[in-house]
Amino acid sequence: MSAALVLVAGIVLVALIKFWRTLYRSPLRHLRGPRAPSVLSGHFNQLAATHQALIREWVNEYGPNFKIRGFFNAPSLFTTDTKAIHHVLTHSTDYCKPLDARRLLARLSGPAGVLVTEGEQHRNQRRVMNPAFGPVQIRGLMGVFHEKSLALRDYWMSQVSEDGSIRTNVGDGISKMTLDVIGVAGFNYDFETLRTDKPTNEVNKAFQALFQSPLPRGTFALLARFFPILMTLFPTERTKAAAQALAVMRRFGMQLIEEKKQQIMSEKTSHSVEKKDVQGRDILSLLIKSNLASDVPENQRLTDEDVLAQVPTFLAAGHETTATATGWLLCELSKHPEFQQKLREELLSVDTDTPTMEALNELPYLDKVVRETLRLHAPVLMVNREAQRDDVIPVSEPFVDAQCTLQREIAVKRGDMVFIGIAALQTAEGVWGEDALEFKPDRWDDPPEAITNTPGVWGHLLTFLGGTRACIGYRFSLVELKALIFALIRAFEFELTAPAEDIQAIGRFLQRAGLRGQEVPALPLLIRPYRRV
Ligand code: HEM
Repeated sequence: MSAALVLVAGIVLVALIKFWRTLYRSPLRHLRGPRAPSVLSGHFNQLAATHQALIREWVNEYGPNFKIRGFFNAPSLFTTDTKAIHHVLTHSTDYCKPLDARRLLARLSGPAGVLVTEGEQHRNQRRVMNPAFGPVQIRGLMGVFHEKSLALRDYWMSQVSEDGSIRTNVGDGISKMTLDVIGVAGFNYDFETLRTDKPTNEVNKAFQALFQSPLPRGTFALLARFFPILMTLFPTERTKAAAQALAVMRRFGMQLIEEKKQQIMSEKTSHSVEKKDVQGRDILSLLIKSNLASDVPENQRLTDEDVLAQVPTFLAAGHETTATATGWLLCELSKHPEFQQKLREELLSVDTDTPTMEALNELPYLDKVVRETLRLHAPVLMVNREAQRDDVIPVSEPFVDAQCTLQREIAVKRGDMVFIGIAALQTAEGVWGEDALEFKPDRWDDPPEAITNTPGVWGHLLTFLGGTRACIGYRFSLVELKALIFALIRAFEFELTAPAEDIQAIGRFLQRAGLRGQEVPALPLLIRPYRRV
């Protein structure tokens, strides 16, 4: 039998098994929910940034818990119910990342990245890594955040033309800045992507190729998630770019790790390294030193492969996410010049270009603008989890299922999928009121009572998720974002170059600001140096 025939037979067999399980076993089939447009791909194509309005309609019609359809119409739970979400996020061994999602992430970071690992390996990695992201460590990175924010300011300033303005895709400059920040803060390595006199860095080039190649869509994209061999047999532009980026990052990571190990050992006078010897502020130094330290129990150490995998992980997880949030923030301030000016006045009242972390965090309007951006434009749209055993998920309110039976909880079978609608929850009218879709920083003066139930790690929002797999870098990202906005809004005025209604969210996992019809999002804004009158 030819390989192709075996492949097709395998696909059909797995599909049949899934189909059987779907129709006859999962209790989720009794939930109410929208009809799927395709038997094969279910709602797969609707679970994207461009379909947020449709998802909100589903929440309005069916309530916070309803059924959507996955591959071969497998019923899955879509939830914006804070009690159900809390249950799923706090039982992370019972609800793991699905294999197909882990495979996709592994294409970016390799299989040992903390975004991908589960169970004991994940717990060990977090134990070693968490201290590197604590408030004290982030305070120590303020110099990097300011230096790179001011570098972006100067980079744009140098491009101002004779008419006193520049028109640019702001995402490009911001993305360079966040890459430079994660380079220095993460690895003490300066990519210097904002220096025009240097050729484009290899890692930056690989990222640009990755984020500028369109995502595979349609049935092929769906099949490839479940049968990754298809990606190998028929590589798309995106797959090739991801493989190239991973190879570049691994090479870069191995070189860095080797250099750091040698540096640490050469600084030592005695034969062993102890935790107290840890001096470096960057994340990678901390990991390597923890790994070498003789006072760390053998079974809690990370393997070399574990350490190496975190280089692409931090580059991938910490770079484009923060850049996406900053892009949305500038977009909203361009739509609302009155908010922009109010913020500028607050920022200009500070008498230094480089305030401390505490001083930045004490600026009330800056804080509200950041919160409102991360509510309305959560960069990560949704996350999904796969039940590892039969379970019962508690819900906030009883509801009626498709058989008109009142339900007080939701039963799931092992293998069932749960989608946590981050963006849908944060724009739900039932929680945020009729103006949920409007950008209103002052709503944070008196936020709705209901949000106190949100099980998020920050700000009663799910933007950085919650539970044991919450974003490790949320403090890092918030301070970086504030430092960047501080530098940019003091220096420039931002204006839209396209009608506001043409701006839309684009993407599947990350929702980035772009213009209607674009496959690869770009946000052109008009920037003018600000002159005080
Ligand atoms: C606005 C910026 C950011 C947003 C919205 C964000 C959001 C998230 C979300 C939603 C997750 C959970 C994903 C899942 O479980 O499926 C996550 C995980 C993670 N984030 Fe972030 N993130 C941001 C910035 C950062 C930064 C700056 C770093 C590193 C410097 C970082 C590192 C990570 C890592 C390593 C994980 C995996 C944690 C684990 O599974 O234990 N993130 N992030």
